Amino acid sequence: MNIDTLLENCDAVLITSPHNLQYFSGFAGGEGFCLLSSSSKTIFVDSRYTVEAESECIGFEVIEFGGGNLFELITEQLNKISAKVICYEDLYLTVATFNRMKEKLDGMSFLPLGDKADVIRSVKTDAEIALLREAERIGYMAFEQVLPMIRLGMTENDLAAELEYQMRKLGASGNAFDTIAISGKKTAMPHGRPDGKRLEYGDFVTMDFGCLYKGYCSDMTRTVVMGEASPKQIEVYNTVLAAQLEGLKAIKAGIVAKDADYAARRIIEEAGYGSCFGHSLGHGVGMLIHEQPNLSPRSETVLVPNMIVTCEPGIYIPGFGGVRIEDMVVVKENGCENLTYSTKELIICG
Ligand code: GLY
Ligand code: MN
Ligand code: MN
Repeated sequence: MNIDTLLENCDAVLITSPHNLQYFSGFAGGEGFCLLSSSSKTIFVDSRYTVEAESECIGFEVIEFGGGNLFELITEQLNKISAKVICYEDLYLTVATFNRMKEKLDGMSFLPLGDKADVIRSVKTDAEIALLREAERIGYMAFEQVLPMIRLGMTENDLAAELEYQMRKLGASGNAFDTIAISGKKTAMPHGRPDGKRLEYGDFVTMDFGCLYKGYCSDMTRTVVMGEASPKQIEVYNTVLAAQLEGLKAIKAGIVAKDADYAARRIIEEAGYGSCFGHSLGHGVGMLIHEQPNLSPRSETVLVPNMIVTCEPGIYIPGFGGVRIEDMVVVKENGCENLTYSTKELIICG
């Protein structure tokens, strides 16, 4: 990773968000303060995390704080390296912590880091790709386990629980986000929440789920039908599938993100459902479930090899239901590698 980019225009960077702490220091405990400069790497943690930080933060000085002395210790360190300008994580630091820091680190100038760390993290290393590949494998293996369990009368909550249970059994440490397992008319809500509703004959069932594996997220969506699909359900499903396949064809190094979005969106618009696809084609995935790049109709980001992004078009029709199909892929020079192996043929369950 290139910390020189972080240090442009400042003497030191203070990292405080859990994902950037792990990315830039290796510390996975979530709560800490990492100070990076061209000559020093320091992490400040409280006594709950000292042993963990000492084993995870290779090449770092670990300083334990407690009893309200955190900013004194940070000041000592800043004075040692003669720092005058500090970059802070404006995207993640609370206003309260920022105000306290400004008051305590008297005499320093503060610059917002903006999205520099996020841009660095958007291009994955080989080691990160291996972890994301395994995270996604856990997701689609869990889906394969759960598919035969999907029955008429089962509740959405039960379905969500099964997906989460199987991901845990397969090695996940948690969920990447709240599992979406919704049915019937609720599938018209892209991010609807599961509840006690039972799966009924003729329902679309949308499952959008992902796990956390060694700090990395997975993300996939499949939509199935209970019992029998109506002609309109088949038409909507096939339109989303055609759009998803066009999106996958478009995703490659050198394409502008908004053009990848349009490759898929065009299919949905031409089928007359343009107003039913409100969200972006996809997003980067890494330590966060939503990270850069954003594959939106406005994104000018040029895709580069080793970005990991989703391709997830959808059609959502209030009062009828909706379909989303989502894969996670690695951007390559001449195309993309799909990490999500589950079939996308319309599956009839129950
Ligand atoms: N589950 C969130 C997403 O697919 O973006
Ligand atoms: Mn997604
Ligand atoms: Mn998703």
